[in-house]
Amino acid sequence: MSKKQDEVVETTEAQIAVHWKEEDYYYPSTKFIAQANLTDEGIFDRFSLDNFPDYYTEFAELLTWYKYWDEVLDSSDAPCYKWFKGGKLNASYNCIDRHLKDNKNKTAIHFVPELEEENVQHITYQELYVRVNEFAALLRDTAKLKRGDRVTIHMPMSAELPITMLACARLGVIHSVVFGGFSASASADRIVDSQSRVLIVTDAYYRAGKLLNHKFNADEAVQIAEEQGQTVDTVLVWQRYPGKYSSDTPMVEGRDIFVNEKLKDYYGARVEPEQMLSEDPLFLMYTSGTTGKPKGCQHGTGGYLAYVTAMSKYIQDIHPEDVYWCMADIGWITGHSFIVYGPLALCASSVIFEGVPTYPDAGRSWRIAQELDVNIFHTAPTAIRALRKLGPDEPAKYNYHFKHMTTVGEPIEPAVWKWYESAVGKGEAIIVDTYWQTETGGFLCSTVPGLNPMKPGSAGPGVPGIHPIIYDDEGHEVEKPGIAGNICIQNPWPGMFQTIWGDRDRFVDTYFGMYNTKPDSKDWKDWPYLTGDAATMSEDGYYRVLGRIDDVINVSGHRLGTKEIESASLVVEEVAEAAVVPVNHEIKGKEPDLYIALKPGIDATDELAAKISEAVCEQIGKIARPRKVWLVPDMPKTRSGKIMRRVLGAISNKGDVGNVMTLANPEVVEEIKNMVEK
Ligand code: WT7
Repeated sequence: MSKKQDEVVETTEAQIAVHWKEEDYYYPSTKFIAQANLTDEGIFDRFSLDNFPDYYTEFAELLTWYKYWDEVLDSSDAPCYKWFKGGKLNASYNCIDRHLKDNKNKTAIHFVPELEEENVQHITYQELYVRVNEFAALLRDTAKLKRGDRVTIHMPMSAELPITMLACARLGVIHSVVFGGFSASASADRIVDSQSRVLIVTDAYYRAGKLLNHKFNADEAVQIAEEQGQTVDTVLVWQRYPGKYSSDTPMVEGRDIFVNEKLKDYYGARVEPEQMLSEDPLFLMYTSGTTGKPKGCQHGTGGYLAYVTAMSKYIQDIHPEDVYWCMADIGWITGHSFIVYGPLALCASSVIFEGVPTYPDAGRSWRIAQELDVNIFHTAPTAIRALRKLGPDEPAKYNYHFKHMTTVGEPIEPAVWKWYESAVGKGEAIIVDTYWQTETGGFLCSTVPGLNPMKPGSAGPGVPGIHPIIYDDEGHEVEKPGIAGNICIQNPWPGMFQTIWGDRDRFVDTYFGMYNTKPDSKDWKDWPYLTGDAATMSEDGYYRVLGRIDDVINVSGHRLGTKEIESASLVVEEVAEAAVVPVNHEIKGKEPDLYIALKPGIDATDELAAKISEAVCEQIGKIARPRKVWLVPDMPKTRSGKIMRRVLGAISNKGDVGNVMTLANPEVVEEIKNMVEK
């Protein structure tokens, strides 16, 4: 790992965040505390390591079980853990059926279309129950899906997306949702890796005022998957406007089915929820890592659902009467945990917004908040920065009142935090800065809103039950406050992913290889979890996350692997070598800069640079579009031939390249500098 760190660019988020000065506390209002779900200070004692793992039964008891568990934690296959072993439950039952008796008439989902002239759809728990059952019957009888099968879902933000996920969960089918903005090729990779024979899509959706043809991606994805040996025999197509096809891509006879038409055959169908084992997988969520191939994080049923329900209750502080809006995309883990599973398990009303928060103007988000009377708001620093830049005074024009707000996904600058607090929160809302990952299912660090004061720029202590520790590269604990090291979690927790789909070795290696010294140990104490982030702890036990220690870039809160972008550019025939470095960006946090060395004899032209940029978008998605493709005469290299990304990163960020005289080709640094600084 320490070797790998040499290659990491100098201008990481770490360098920025570590220089933020320690801020003063902000305290929650007495009004907030009076209604908070968690005000018992005893929680931290109860959830101390001495009481591990039994304290997690408090979380599991928030759910309804067909059969109680025999054992809270089975670590006999460490670090692949089984939580609430022997227990049986169904996630769809917990998110829907159990609320019907008292709350069937309550709104489960407010779907807000992007077009303001279209009505908001308010879907009650009863309606959700009916639609999930009918669709589950279709999945079972038409698509022939059964317990344990995997299905790939490539859909935009819509009410049909959680309906699809919950229908899968009802049958015990493992869903793998691909972010709607990802390309056909990214969808194909996930189809192949998860061995899905069914793909579920939407024909079209609105984004920044345009109705985008989405069905087109399905055809391409199926074709690419086929070339890689995975046949998709059924494509289920939801219609953005039921009864009307909004795409000009033809339907394929014998393979493609309009869901809305087919559902007529299932009118009134009810499907008994499968009684799943707690450790049965609920879903896969692919995320970027240090190699080109995204990894399928496998999340279990009982542990995951218990964890996100508890986090929604105690950290998001959701009460059944709240209107809760998490502005993330369901195609990411935040949406899975904190739009769908957590809030619905608590019988909350969850808002799903199809569009872009700043479209058609910077007031759009606040109009939605006002109209639906949203009182809990959850978003990412990148959106906060954009809203602040485009309309710093907009929130004051609308009559909404948040009691609670979340920021998640990347470090937030104290200045941006303060604008969020005063302008968006109108000085009335508490803020939680939740630090976590796709792998962790739910929060690792955050303040408990009714118990810990807030501190701009710091996520906070480990949430109850999570015991972080900072290690240096040699595995010694960094005890001194303010000194950066690798943040790890000492104990397993129920929300943690179970493994990487089909690749246990990679799971063990990536997340535990660095600090586990006893590979045969069955004792969880020997398996600290490596997050892959650098962090510092301050005197008060609050953690400040500084950014990734590996080759991952956080663009607008979306995680992209530098290797993934590099290998995407290498499909262009003329490209010999590629190197990606993160560049600071005012709104997005980071953007990728792509350096390319061409094969001998090939001319560097603007057309070629554009072609390479397109190739990246095609293979990953537009979010990966490089800020700039630099066609350089050669890569700066060490004498052993390693590309010096650190030097390129410094050039891109107009920083100091340091001493480059030990490189094999120091002269090229000056050439590249002239090119970039021109
Ligand atoms: C990476 C995980 C967590 C859901 C969304 C992103 C960074 C996440 C914070 C935060 C500073 C943060 C870390 C982490 N990150 N939350 N509150 N403060 N950094 O999930 O795509 O798996 O990315 O996002 O670097 O490792 P993800």
